[in-house]
Amino acid sequence: MGRKSFDEVLKYTEYALKTISQKSMTEEEQEVFINEARNNFDNHINPGFLEYRKSAGGDQMAMEWMSQGDTFTDLHGKEYIDCLGGFGAFNCGHRHPKIIEAVKNQLDKQPLSSAELVDANRSLLARILADVTPGDLQYTFFTSSGTESVECALKMATLATGRHYYVAFKADFHGKTMGALSLTSKEHYRGPFLPLMQGARFAPFGDLEYLKKMIDVLDYVGELPAAIVFEPIQGEGGVNIAPDDFVVGIREICDKYDIMMVADEVQVGMGRTGHIFACDHYGIAPDILCLGKSISGSVVPLSATVCTERAFRGMFPDPLLHSTTTGGNPLATSAGIAAFNVILGEDLCGRAQKSGAMFMAGLEILQKKYPKLLTTYRGRGLMIAMEFCDGDLGYEVVYEAFNRRVLLSGSLINAKTIRIEPPLMISEAHIKEALEVLDVSMGIVYDKHFK
Ligand SMILES: Cc1ncc(COP(=O)(O)O)c(C=O)c1O
Repeated sequence: MGRKSFDEVLKYTEYALKTISQKSMTEEEQEVFINEARNNFDNHINPGFLEYRKSAGGDQMAMEWMSQGDTFTDLHGKEYIDCLGGFGAFNCGHRHPKIIEAVKNQLDKQPLSSAELVDANRSLLARILADVTPGDLQYTFFTSSGTESVECALKMATLATGRHYYVAFKADFHGKTMGALSLTSKEHYRGPFLPLMQGARFAPFGDLEYLKKMIDVLDYVGELPAAIVFEPIQGEGGVNIAPDDFVVGIREICDKYDIMMVADEVQVGMGRTGHIFACDHYGIAPDILCLGKSISGSVVPLSATVCTERAFRGMFPDPLLHSTTTGGNPLATSAGIAAFNVILGEDLCGRAQKSGAMFMAGLEILQKKYPKLLTTYRGRGLMIAMEFCDGDLGYEVVYEAFNRRVLLSGSLINAKTIRIEPPLMISEAHIKEALEVLDVSMGIVYDKHFK
């Protein structure tokens, strides 16, 4: 493509800044803007991307523009009910006023820290996390993405135990940076990058007896793991809920062999399942808790690795043994503090339980109506999956729903499941409307393939 003159680049930044400042566009401006974005995606992001975006209706150029609460509006002014919730990033809804206010206040003072003076926000949020998390979780390392929180967990577990192996489970998803990817289970994502981190091992999800035997053998051969990393509910794996005995059993195994129990709640934490953390359903506390997505207050990216003193003390002699320049910056932590204020103050856990029950009741009716298409459904709080007889038919339902202004999406590991994961404050009216749209969409797909 070649390099352009700096004058031309400067002019282009001015065009881009003008579009950011605009609240609306004329039809003519919209057309230019859409073509511009389409070309830039094809030439500078990834030519496959627009093609791949199945849930947002293939070639319909629905462009992100505005959002509020449980809805967002595209550039053309079409309003959608958000039943996807940014794959767990929008628990607090879009642009919650309290979170926006906190972030704006911080923006007006100091968005990023000097990285040398004491940054109070980070300490305030770390204190909140110590107070709100179960057990003896006490120290927090802040980063920006979920995968980084898993990277940190792996390093802390190795520091704490002096061991170099890790156990995760089939259908787990822990992120795509090299360390986290080593514990992400699907061959499709791992294959091109093998051998990845040495010493990652997988067991079947939910099978405690298998895990016990595996750890017994690893102990015998002198290769005990530093950590057992698990998701209390596998999100990308298709909303697979860990059985009670499995989670309690992991805790017991970790205690017996001094292994760090790492709960990855990047997707299901922060109220999503009807408790503030999914581990609370099991009455156990992990040694390390990974949080991401919605800890951002659904406004500024943030993630956190919350550790017990036992898990974290390897970091005491040199606090920079693991570090990041911008992770946990004042802007992001102001959003995180406000996120806890909103989730606790507005009882979003209670809302998730109540609204989850409404969705499940609606899905029971739809499953009876379209049994060959919708084979089953499951969930906890507002972490819900519909399982279709076939991945392609599931996507046809998503496509029809999108055309009727309800956003849903599949999962990265299980092609047959479509998730319902809306903001936790989704209104009753929008739940009813979403279920009606699902009924119509399933009806169309059912008639096409089964009549
Ligand atoms: C359980 C879990 N862990 C880690 C991640 C990675 O988070 P991120 O995409 O922010 O890196 C995800 C993302 O979906 C996730 O669901």
